Amino acid sequence: MLRRDLFSWTAAAALTALGGGRALAQASGLPKLAQKATYKVGFAQTESNNPWRIAQTESMRSEAAKRGHQFVYTDAAASAAKQVADVNSMIAQRVDVIFLAPREEKPLVPAVMAAKRAGIPVILLDRRVDETQAKAGRDYVCFIGSDFIAEGRRAGEWLVKEMKGEASIIELLGTTGSSPANDRHAGFAEAIKASPGMKIVAGQSGDFVRDKGRQVAETLLQANGAANAIYAHNDEMAIGALAAIEAAGKKAGKDIVVVSVDGTRDALQAIIAGTMGATVECNPKFGPKAFETMDRYARGEAIEPWVINQDRFFDSSNAQQLVADAY
Ligand code: AHR
Repeated sequence: MLRRDLFSWTAAAALTALGGGRALAQASGLPKLAQKATYKVGFAQTESNNPWRIAQTESMRSEAAKRGHQFVYTDAAASAAKQVADVNSMIAQRVDVIFLAPREEKPLVPAVMAAKRAGIPVILLDRRVDETQAKAGRDYVCFIGSDFIAEGRRAGEWLVKEMKGEASIIELLGTTGSSPANDRHAGFAEAIKASPGMKIVAGQSGDFVRDKGRQVAETLLQANGAANAIYAHNDEMAIGALAAIEAAGKKAGKDIVVVSVDGTRDALQAIIAGTMGATVECNPKFGPKAFETMDRYARGEAIEPWVINQDRFFDSSNAQQLVADAY
């Protein structure tokens, strides 16, 4: 899937060249952010039912505290409708800026637009909204996060190598309609395309949740007895799948190879134990970059539409060495 950010960035750069960074916000109609010593910042989190989300919230909360900002936090509890209401409540409370981790691409567009109408700048964290309806540099300041397509691609490339180009794969997808689920699927499909022996035999959403991942993996393993690989869109579902593999009387890491995304402590421990093969990092520690970007925006700098997080890769070569620092 091609992202339109490069186009937006070209347009943004042109605007900057015409009139400087401050002109970018003015010309695009983006709400400005006054320079202040401290701010009232909103963080609209999508859910808090997994270690990744907890690490992300902790990073945002501790960085806000370090800088003396007032932190207004909401947890949408896995409901896009609640997350829209959460953003509306932040608007009513007149926060200075909203950091939004949109649960799904389309349903959160109205929340972004409502904040824009209210004159409150929005910075998207870790997930995107539908780019055909809302654009970085025009409707919200920017997106800060990983390259989910690259994450899927790296998982696929590892699996092609590990399985020597021959595998019957079960795919455990993330939340339907979310940007990581869309992009991790696309990147993985792209990586295995050139290997006709690599086939996705079944796929279903486990909503990025451990227990749902286990249940879906159990059902799909029963229906696909010849499956010998599982690609999970996050570590929580992968860990759930390990239990399903055991329940099916098979050995994870021997009969069925598991690869996923995130880099949680549980996943690194499973790699060390040999039950999981590898995981592509998706770094949840957004705090420093989020507030640094907010400050740059307040200073009137032109912000790139996509502030990219760089991710590592964990497998048996480095899991032991890095597990102590994992979340
Ligand atoms: O948006 C990032 C994804 O969301 C992480 O991979 C997942 O664990 C989280 O819930």
